[in-house]
Amino acid sequence: MQDEFVFDSLYSIGSGLVQWRSPSNIALIKYWGKKPIQIPSNPSLSFCLSNCFTSTKVSFMKNDKTGINYQFFFDGKKKPKFESKLDHFFEKISKYCPYILEMKMVIESSNSFPHSSGIASSASAFSALSLCIMEIENLLNPKLEKSFFFRKASFLSRLGSGSACRSIIKKFSVWGKTDLISNSSDLFASSFNLKVHNSFNDLCDTILIVDKSEKEFSSTKGHELMNSHIFGEIRVSQAKSNLSLIIEAFDSGNYKLFIEVVETEALTLHAMMMTSNPYFILMKSNTLKIIKSVWEFRKKHNSRLCFTLDAGANVHLIYPKSEFDSVQRFILEVLVGYCENGKFINDKIGIGPFKL
Ligand code: DP6
Repeated sequence: MQDEFVFDSLYSIGSGLVQWRSPSNIALIKYWGKKPIQIPSNPSLSFCLSNCFTSTKVSFMKNDKTGINYQFFFDGKKKPKFESKLDHFFEKISKYCPYILEMKMVIESSNSFPHSSGIASSASAFSALSLCIMEIENLLNPKLEKSFFFRKASFLSRLGSGSACRSIIKKFSVWGKTDLISNSSDLFASSFNLKVHNSFNDLCDTILIVDKSEKEFSSTKGHELMNSHIFGEIRVSQAKSNLSLIIEAFDSGNYKLFIEVVETEALTLHAMMMTSNPYFILMKSNTLKIIKSVWEFRKKHNSRLCFTLDAGANVHLIYPKSEFDSVQRFILEVLVGYCENGKFINDKIGIGPFKL
């Protein structure tokens, strides 16, 4: 148990309403593999987005009985299929936030992006919910320090979904203890505190929706398979060395190195899936067509466009803002043909979550 995060002030619960909005994030160095409880096998690095976010409202009041008591609505409708994940989450956080056992909560959530777009929403969902819980904690103890507020929000989010802990931080975020970054931790994400060359401060991320159906294989299962993976140890050391290379690229503004690391990470993530036991493939043929087209475009136009992938078929195009117009033309002329119903979402590096 992490004592720092156990709430032990005296309190009395009234009723109220809290509301937060939190973004999704995209990893450049991937988290893939974990130990109990939600401790990552390797450090990961991501940036949070601006346009893909979850807004969550929690209304609460005192409950007569002790126990977890909530109702959950997504887009105004009950979503029983999310409840087992929520039950687990509340169970896990109740030792750190015992006050939730003494209240009834009504949780209303919605995403800025379409639910069936194949975009993972657990990062934005759990981070928005954890920020709401921390807002309640702040009402019970108004003396909370701002830095503790966000650190604990990230800590709680991690217990909901690992990558969610990185959504609490604006711009670039690191999760997972590493000697390379002094403020890093396995328990929560921290702001990337080393130099970031100006050329990376305005990154764009266009998400090409290749397949909007739900994943056939959950990330959680994929992480589990890394424990017995024949390349498991090698993957962990590769992630560590890729982190050190991206730190070098950030420091010097070396875009070539940045692209190499980002694309290696994306392809390794999927290579790990293809070499797990059991193995599986989440890329679709259009994912590969996009990747090849990106490589051709980059060579032909001496561009800084590159790609990354999540645990799914969709492709994230990563590029500096200065190339926005040319990349948009490329998408409309070529890539849109590989997207399901021609769908893509333009996003960019963001300023992190905020209170509504
Ligand atoms: C491929 O955070 O979804 O997106 O901790 O089991 O909820 P759980 O997994 P999750 O894993 C996401 C992995 C990834 C890479 C990344 O975001 O770093």
